[in-house]
Amino acid sequence: MKRITLLTALLLCLLPLQARKEKKFTHETFPLPKVERQVIGIETENTALVLLVQENGELNTLHYGAPLGAAAQFLSKDTSSEDYNGARGLTYPATGGRFTGDPALHVKYADGSHNTELYYTGHTVTAGEGFTRTAIGLKDYVTGLEVTLVYDAYAKEDVIVAHTSLVNGGKKPVELLNYASSSLYLDADEYLLTHFHGSWAYDMQTESEVLGHDLKVIESRRGTQATQGNNPSFLLSLNTREFSETSGEVVAGALAWSGNFRLCFEKDDAHRLNVTAGISPFASAWPLEAGERFETPEMLYTYSAEGAGKASRNLHRWARKYGVYGGGAVNPTLLNSWEGAYFNFTTETLLRMMDDAAAMGLEMFVLDDGWFGNEFPRNGDNAGLGDWEVNTAKLPEGIDYLAQYAHSKDLKFGIWIEPEMVNPASVLAREHPEWVVQSPGREIYQGRNQWVLDLSNPAVQDFVFGIFDRTMQLAPNIDYIKWDCNRVIQSFGSPYLGVRQDRFYVAYCQGLYNVMRRIREQYPKVLIQCCSSGGGRIDYGSLRYCNEVWTSDNTDALSRAYIQYGTSLIYPACVMASHVSAVPNHQSGNVTPLKFRFDMACAGRLGMELQPRDLPADERALALRCIGSYKEYRDLVFGGDLYRLFSPYDGSYSALMYVSEDKSRAVVFTYCLHYEPRTVGGKTFRLQGLDPSRSYRVVEQNVDKSCWWGSGASFSGAFLMNGGFNPLLPRLYSSAVFVLEAD
Ligand code: GLA
Repeated sequence: MKRITLLTALLLCLLPLQARKEKKFTHETFPLPKVERQVIGIETENTALVLLVQENGELNTLHYGAPLGAAAQFLSKDTSSEDYNGARGLTYPATGGRFTGDPALHVKYADGSHNTELYYTGHTVTAGEGFTRTAIGLKDYVTGLEVTLVYDAYAKEDVIVAHTSLVNGGKKPVELLNYASSSLYLDADEYLLTHFHGSWAYDMQTESEVLGHDLKVIESRRGTQATQGNNPSFLLSLNTREFSETSGEVVAGALAWSGNFRLCFEKDDAHRLNVTAGISPFASAWPLEAGERFETPEMLYTYSAEGAGKASRNLHRWARKYGVYGGGAVNPTLLNSWEGAYFNFTTETLLRMMDDAAAMGLEMFVLDDGWFGNEFPRNGDNAGLGDWEVNTAKLPEGIDYLAQYAHSKDLKFGIWIEPEMVNPASVLAREHPEWVVQSPGREIYQGRNQWVLDLSNPAVQDFVFGIFDRTMQLAPNIDYIKWDCNRVIQSFGSPYLGVRQDRFYVAYCQGLYNVMRRIREQYPKVLIQCCSSGGGRIDYGSLRYCNEVWTSDNTDALSRAYIQYGTSLIYPACVMASHVSAVPNHQSGNVTPLKFRFDMACAGRLGMELQPRDLPADERALALRCIGSYKEYRDLVFGGDLYRLFSPYDGSYSALMYVSEDKSRAVVFTYCLHYEPRTVGGKTFRLQGLDPSRSYRVVEQNVDKSCWWGSGASFSGAFLMNGGFNPLLPRLYSSAVFVLEAD
């Protein structure tokens, strides 16, 4: 007993000595350069991100939110009492040192160690087009790993785009186990997280939850169709348990990446929240040779002091100007052949559809799936993918003939491809089995009877580029390509990558972007729709190259109220393709009036997707009228500011409006989604975003008798925003669209 006590005492005496010795050893061997304590303010017109460089070189995040005046006021802030472990609030926390939380960066070094400690080396501020770039250098002095945190602050849009550049400055290879785009440290009492979930024909469903302590992870491991489950985006309402469109602080974020992603929300013991966003590290350790660099995808943030509505508008404004290919431009209305003809068409079928499209005032015809494959004709979803030559039995006159006919009718012409995929029943699968995503000795699972091509392989990238290129040559003026991607990756693996399988998921997405980049260099004008069984690729990574997304394979107007609401929280209406289809709806079986279907589709990029021949004359007349009026106000949908007036999740109605930037015009969409007693006497919606002092003439569209008593008259913006805009929407699926013009 005595001996144990003595031994313990001896150990206790030695421990601090040992600790001192280690500390001394580290600093003597790798002396940290002295740095000046300083504040780095990254500012937009209405937001500020404030970082602090500590004397020891650690970089901390002090604030993200409303502007504070000179950021330098933080210089003397005493952060020591807030810092129990000494590693709270690190701007880009790395595994190792004193940090024990969820890391943005986790590196494994050649000697097997996992410790990284990042210290400030300097920063630069430069001007870009529409933004100011702050690039902050950090370094791990033991291993030589260099990290640059890049923040592009878009002043006018109040959006900060962050990404990280990682360079192996050491002499030996390292492995990046976790390499987030960015980490954001927030300080509030409560966090209401709003995010998305879904599945096929059930995209972008909105869910909110109050974050507890510990880690909340939103992740996709699907490889392709990465966003059909959840979406790499979120909104965080601060200091509240209620979601509000119009009040309170909201931080919103979106990752520009179409592959596996991970968003982590870690609330610590002091209730602070660390949000880490980036590529999912799942099976994706990235090897970095000495001197090599890895650039993460970009992560977008915005902050609003006026609720979620403003946060969405910030993202939308940024997206229209910088984030979406051709963003903000008005794109044509169209008739798509899919739900009207599926695989069963001849040249004649398509010509007559074009006649009808033109007669209804539509502006483009899109030939969907089913036009290709000869040895393995694409007459169903079980054959032909990969063999992208025109099916001569179905379309003996070729695509050029169809495109010319469309153009002769003043219609643009578009065509569908799914270039990342191959059916086992295809010439391509026979000739290039090594191009298929697979793992040696294992079954290659099929989804929708198809396999995925291995885009990590440059030869496959060339092939996929070639599909696009050759399709564009099928006719002189192809105006639009619908790029589809109809399955997730399973039994993942690349014959091309050999033992470097860890690279597969990231290299696939990089390969996709390589192809898209080449396409845009060669075809800057063609409109591209990004489709992935509907909304499986709705993200700001693909939108850099694509003009729009196929929001969902679910065209039921009732379902669309929820899908489009969710999509609108993060993405602008200009990308939201929305089609009027037949009833009973092919996905849900629901039967809704044609007017309701139009009023829903007109809130995005309007199209139709049915056999027009099946419409009775009165419905065709209504279609003509709705399409005509849409063309008059659609610039507001494509380029205006969105105000969500009533959420479909909040009751029996749904309403939204778009307002021109100068507030001189607006369009309001109102819908009844569930029956309520007719005695309610009109649902009151308070309009938003108008100029209170201006007078607006309000006219309901596409009806002979309006459901609102004030249609045709003028009212002040103040009246419409504070008083009683109360259209009668008495029945299930009643709907009304109003255009407002300032007098
Ligand atoms: C996917 C798309 C549809 C349609 C079909 C064709 O499901 O989302 O719009 O193009 O493929 O096979």
